[in-house]
Amino acid sequence: MADPDAYGLTTDDRRLEPFDWFREMRERGPVHRNPRKDRWDVFGYDAATTVLRDHEQFSSDTPFDSDRLGLLDDTIVNLDPPRHGKLRSTVEDYFREEHVRTLEPRVRELVGQVLADVEGPQFDVVEAVARPLPNLVIADLLGIPLEDRERFLSWCDALTRLEVDSTDERRRAQREAGQQMAAYMTEQIQRRRERPREDLLSVLVESEVDGEPLSTGDVLGFAALFLIAGNITTTGLLTNAVRSFAERPRLFEDLADDPEALATAVEEVVRYRSPASAVSRGATTDTELCGRQVDAGDHVVVRLLAANHDPARFEDPDSFVPDRSPNPHLGFGHGIHNCIGAALGRLEARVALSELLDRFDVRAVHDGDLTPVRNTFMHAVHSLPVEVR
Ligand code: HEM
Repeated sequence: MADPDAYGLTTDDRRLEPFDWFREMRERGPVHRNPRKDRWDVFGYDAATTVLRDHEQFSSDTPFDSDRLGLLDDTIVNLDPPRHGKLRSTVEDYFREEHVRTLEPRVRELVGQVLADVEGPQFDVVEAVARPLPNLVIADLLGIPLEDRERFLSWCDALTRLEVDSTDERRRAQREAGQQMAAYMTEQIQRRRERPREDLLSVLVESEVDGEPLSTGDVLGFAALFLIAGNITTTGLLTNAVRSFAERPRLFEDLADDPEALATAVEEVVRYRSPASAVSRGATTDTELCGRQVDAGDHVVVRLLAANHDPARFEDPDSFVPDRSPNPHLGFGHGIHNCIGAALGRLEARVALSELLDRFDVRAVHDGDLTPVRNTFMHAVHSLPVEVR
């Protein structure tokens, strides 16, 4: 596709429903040079797994996806082996499914707190549930004292809120929130060093890498990463779930009484409307990728959402099939950087949706009038009005 204007998620309509464009691109080949930006885009499933598996050839330690505040620069998502594995192993047990299962009663309680304020007949799923819940869960797991919660949650909100348009004022507020949170968390880390407790912050403080405790900077980095990587993604998953369920008649009713079917349907949401729709890598040496010459230093964007709609891997890929199984999607990534918070994200989505469907008879009422998040790396909407009875 030579015409730059015809390439990319260039319109809101295409961002909301990118599947026709993905199909068009995949039919021309799995890997394309992006004519609008100086980078490669990967659309095919096999090409995506090739890149994500080969962390020596395709590095995560690149300048391409630094967040504006630099909070995640030295965190695992942007590191290569061996440091990546050493740091990641400090929290792997905590985020393992068996441990996350033990968090369910607490997560259900927190969902209850969030839903207690929600009233019909209409509300926005994003503002009412999908945004506040991940912040509250991570604050709780980190062990932020109750009396500081409001302050902490307002910093979280400033750091993770996706605006339709970003202004200088908003960027300043974000920087300030980042600084205040870092100062506060440094103090909390010090307290855990003196007296560890039963929380995730203490797990981090008590962890060692090469016989040395994690530095305060590493602990702060982890906290920022959980907050940011775990927030907009979970918000997107919850919202995209309600949006996807609404596409099928009677699905809200059917899933309300069937926890297993709900878990399978949530998995299909991660495939069908993958909230983390792309990830970045940098080529470390000259190489060939599906017949294209990629040079050392090139930026490679793996479009997970496009790969998750590849007909070579999924039957009827552009349909939402709530009972799809098996479902080998790449929505939580693939390879050594696969999402460490996947079990927690799934739990939050499952519990929040089951409580929501238990309390309300939900109908999405957007009438095609949605505003997409304008970001290649996210497939999400800013708000999703629903009507409930
Ligand atoms: C529920 C929706 C979620 C989705 C769709 C999602 C998606 C992803 C994806 C695609 C990656 C791979 C990044 C890459 O390859 O560069 C990733 C990594 C990661 N995610 Fe998630 N995530 C979710 C929830 C969470 C939660 C709840 C947490 C933690 C509180 C979390 C923490 C992380 C971390 C720490 C990494 C980096 C892992 C590494 O580099 O080794 N995520 N996530």
